[in-house]
Amino acid sequence: MPLDGFTDWLRAVERDLNPAAKMAHFLSQEFPNAWPDPWQIEAITSDAQTVATLICRQAGKSSVLATRGVIELERGGTVICLAPASRQTMEITRKVAQYLKCTDLVVERATQTEIETNNGGRFIAVPASGATIRGYTADLLLVDEMAYLPGHNAGEDVVVALLPMLKDDGQTFYASTPAGKNNMFAQLFLDAKPDDGIHRIKVPGTSIPRLHARVERLRKQLSATRFKQEVECQFLTDGQAYFDLSVIEAATSTKGAICPKL
Ligand SMILES: Nc1ncnc2c1ncn2[C@@H]1O[C@H](COP(=O)(O)OP(=O)(O)OP(=O)(O)O)[C@@H](O)[C@H]1O
Ligand SMILES: [Mg+2]
Repeated sequence: MPLDGFTDWLRAVERDLNPAAKMAHFLSQEFPNAWPDPWQIEAITSDAQTVATLICRQAGKSSVLATRGVIELERGGTVICLAPASRQTMEITRKVAQYLKCTDLVVERATQTEIETNNGGRFIAVPASGATIRGYTADLLLVDEMAYLPGHNAGEDVVVALLPMLKDDGQTFYASTPAGKNNMFAQLFLDAKPDDGIHRIKVPGTSIPRLHARVERLRKQLSATRFKQEVECQFLTDGQAYFDLSVIEAATSTKGAICPKL
């Protein structure tokens, strides 16, 4: 029917004008009525040079990175994607390939780690090794599960090798759940300086209504420490702290403490 064609055209225009509608279209392949959460919209529309997202498990971090990657591919840009394990970068590459089916772009070449589109766009997933990732020039850097990158200071060498590849008007996206305080991702949040140009977005799972049932299940299944880290996004002293912080806090509180605070 002609009216159906008109509706489809209007929806396509909406997606071109509104990144949230675009991401909803991508997500709808898996979940027909999905709409991005406010933090996801804030991330994909940010024009900060660096966007750092500290978000709970399974909240849609990789979906945000893949969406931002596709938006860059639509501009004909080059996207470099990094994660601790090649399995994780391949998963984002798979998401990007899936989302590209919702766009007008034609994929000219695709492997598990690389996609080339007909407008010159390139998506390249690189291994988490500083020695082997030199030689590209990127419009967008995507770093997933940054707190878990291998090596000194959780991937500092790799990230330092990546940053010079970014064009001056390019953008870097970091995403992770926390993993202790001794890593570059934690420093991004704990050592924040005013006007450092980093757009920080922190969203614990308890603030995402769509995750309510899962959060309550995890509250029962995880230790209190793990819940604080994985769901509430807290940077704990160490990713594998032996004692629960609440135990330490209780033991050193001013009331009835074993080791009272002085
Ligand atoms: N706004 C949304 N509404 C509904 N489903 C969503 C939304 N965003 C992402 N999802 C879906 O949630 C699931 C988890 O998404 P994703 O893998 O991006 O999360 P993640 O935060 O990277 O997870 P993990 O912590 O395991 O790496 C996927 O099936 C994805 O399609
Ligand atoms: Mg993920």
